[in-house]
Amino acid sequence: MSLKKEINPLEDDHLGWMAATLESVSDMVFIADLEDKLIYANPAALKKFGYTKEELLGKTGEHIMSPSNPKSLRVEMLKATREHPYAWEGEVINITKDGQEYYTHLRTALVRNKRGEPIGMSGISRDITDRKKAQEQLEDYARKLEQANQELREMQEQLVKSEKLAAIGVLAAGLAHEIGNPLASISSLVQLLQRKVLDAKAQESFQSIGTHIQRVSHIIQHVSDFTKHEQMKRMAVDLEPLIRNTLQKICLQNNDKLVEIHTKFESGLPRVSAEASQLAQAFSHIFVNALEAMDKAGKLDVDATKLVKGMVKVSIRDTGRGIPQKYIRKVFEPFFTTKEVGKGAGLGLSVSYGIIKSFGGDIRVESIVGKGTLFEMLLPIYES
Ligand SMILES: Nc1ncnc2c1ncn2[C@@H]1O[C@H](COP(=O)(O)OP(=O)(O)O)[C@@H](O)[C@H]1O
Ligand SMILES: [Mg+2]
Repeated sequence: MSLKKEINPLEDDHLGWMAATLESVSDMVFIADLEDKLIYANPAALKKFGYTKEELLGKTGEHIMSPSNPKSLRVEMLKATREHPYAWEGEVINITKDGQEYYTHLRTALVRNKRGEPIGMSGISRDITDRKKAQEQLEDYARKLEQANQELREMQEQLVKSEKLAAIGVLAAGLAHEIGNPLASISSLVQLLQRKVLDAKAQESFQSIGTHIQRVSHIIQHVSDFTKHEQMKRMAVDLEPLIRNTLQKICLQNNDKLVEIHTKFESGLPRVSAEASQLAQAFSHIFVNALEAMDKAGKLDVDATKLVKGMVKVSIRDTGRGIPQKYIRKVFEPFFTTKEVGKGAGLGLSVSYGIIKSFGGDIRVESIVGKGTLFEMLLPIYES
């Protein structure tokens, strides 16, 4: 004989079975009328919310819903329950009598009488705060991991870049030495011959040799500049006069351009720790490039401000042709140039880089083709 035939818990005279079951389950059970006024809450629900039956029954479901829920949630939930039985299921933020919020998973249903007419709604709800917290924590970990990953990638790139430049530095120092010495001998021999040989044609050739030697020794000078900053003495350098003087010199040499120059120095700008003539050299390479990048006219902005981290930031912005993305990582490498042969040796920025780094500073570049280029330098404040 089946249980169904003997006892049907869904029949009126067996409602006691149902009641006993609802009273004992650990999920929260609510029954409300069609207006959402609560007419029953099981002990698990009362316990969780901290209300007595007297306090809770007669109130609407809104009473136990946190204001942090989306505004439309309750309306949607009631509409779905009334119109499509068993239709609503979702997450709700509930609030206890003493104001504590927690997440629940709620499932609602329409309750009908024997004639099939709707008479109320039921809801079964389960606390999912722990799951929700774990999920949020997991998302938080994932975010942090992604951030750490990003930082690691950037550090790796930085490391590769500085290792590469250090290796180039060693090579450059060796080359400068190996070429510099014989070149000096050639130069003095040429000068000697120039004095001894009087033939005009030969004199012309010596002149030309002299020019070439000068060009090579200029490059050698730059190459060794790139490498030998470690031994430099540092002092307190006042940036404003140094930058103004450097700018003036560069502009005098490029007075065919209609470049509008703006400078802005924060008042009370602290002095930086550097060697003045080297620092001036670092700036001058950047100014020269900026002027070269602006065909006939343009704007050059120089701006210096104090940062909180014991550094002064100098920004040099031009409205020149800009640097294509594929070159941006290369501009600080020695011998990288986009200028035609004989025009640029590709050493300016590598020297600036070497100088700034040797003072414990930093330099970076940002550029948009056709719009302009920004060089940003950080220099340590001088501590007496
Ligand atoms: N302000 C700038 N605007 C556009 N391109 C620049 C700028 N500064 C540097 N560059 C690019 O970087 C390259 C390297 O610069 P640099 O080291 O000074 O060498 P050089 O000036 O001899 O080419 C330049 O050839 C140029 O392509
Ligand atoms: Mg240059």
